[in-house]
Amino acid sequence: MSDPAPDLFSGTPDPPADHGDGGPAFSVSDPDTSLFVGDCREVLARLPEKGSVDLVFADPPFNWDVNYGDWDDSMPREDYESFTRQWLDGCIEALAPNGSLWVNIPDDTAAEIVVHLKSRGLTMVNWCIWHFRFGQCRNSGFITSKVHALYFCKDPKNRIWNPDSILEQSDRASIYGDARTMAKDSNKGMRVPMDVWYGKYWGRIQGNNKERRSNHQNQIPEVYLERVIESCSNEGSLVLDPFAGSGTTCTVARALGRRSICIEYSPDNAASAWERISEVGMVRKGQGIGQSSAIFASRGSRKS
Ligand SMILES: C[S@@+](CC[C@H](N)C(=O)[O-])C[C@H]1O[C@@H](n2cnc3c(N)ncnc32)[C@H](O)[C@@H]1O
Repeated sequence: MSDPAPDLFSGTPDPPADHGDGGPAFSVSDPDTSLFVGDCREVLARLPEKGSVDLVFADPPFNWDVNYGDWDDSMPREDYESFTRQWLDGCIEALAPNGSLWVNIPDDTAAEIVVHLKSRGLTMVNWCIWHFRFGQCRNSGFITSKVHALYFCKDPKNRIWNPDSILEQSDRASIYGDARTMAKDSNKGMRVPMDVWYGKYWGRIQGNNKERRSNHQNQIPEVYLERVIESCSNEGSLVLDPFAGSGTTCTVARALGRRSICIEYSPDNAASAWERISEVGMVRKGQGIGQSSAIFASRGSRKS
């Protein structure tokens, strides 16, 4: 499974000549934000910031035959796994020694990614689950209602971790009104979120959701990126997303004062992502923080 020496592009067609040459296609300052158009494996290999990225968030194509414009999302399985190992290696090289790497990935490739990252010496901090309702209906098996949010770091003793910035209400406070949690010296009634993520604003981005960008597939909710970026980077840190899509990562990073770089293969997606990053901005800043994720109503309000 692990490749001793990454062999870029083997098993996949050569990218078109106009993808991935030169510097970023779009950039803006304060905080520095840039978007490259090209194959992330190629762009990562020549990134000047190699070795200094504080946080990578990667939401790759799942090889589910989704229409991503120019990108072939229906590769033979072996090619897809080889592609996956190649971009993972590029991300590892981009990371600073205290950097963190998150990967958003469904059931069918999560295990391969975990094994590969461990084989490259990274440490798993959490295996989180993003749980959503309204998965694709089917009766051939249980309905998919989750994606894995894999959180790895290079050095578990030296990583950026800001738990206080992402606290939510504890069940003790929101369900039971437990006086003990309100008597704490700090963070009264609050806790670090659990490793299964769901709730208000955590649904898949569909219909008339105000975050939704037209013509983008599998857009991730802003609250998800806010939790990852707040907890695993500082203001001024450098965040990288090798699969920009609609630009969620850079949009949220920018709103939170982080520098960021993203890469997108499709020129059309890139142009639309840049409009979001540079003009529309984050629409739910702070709305996912400090809430309760309790699945029971407050005890005081129960009828029976
Ligand atoms: C799952 S989507 C990312 C969605 C994104 N997280 C969002 O919230 O909008 C994957 C994106 O990666 C792009 N992509 C696919 N292969 C790529 C490659 N080799 N390099 C860069 N981008 C690629 C696709 O065009 C697509 O826009």
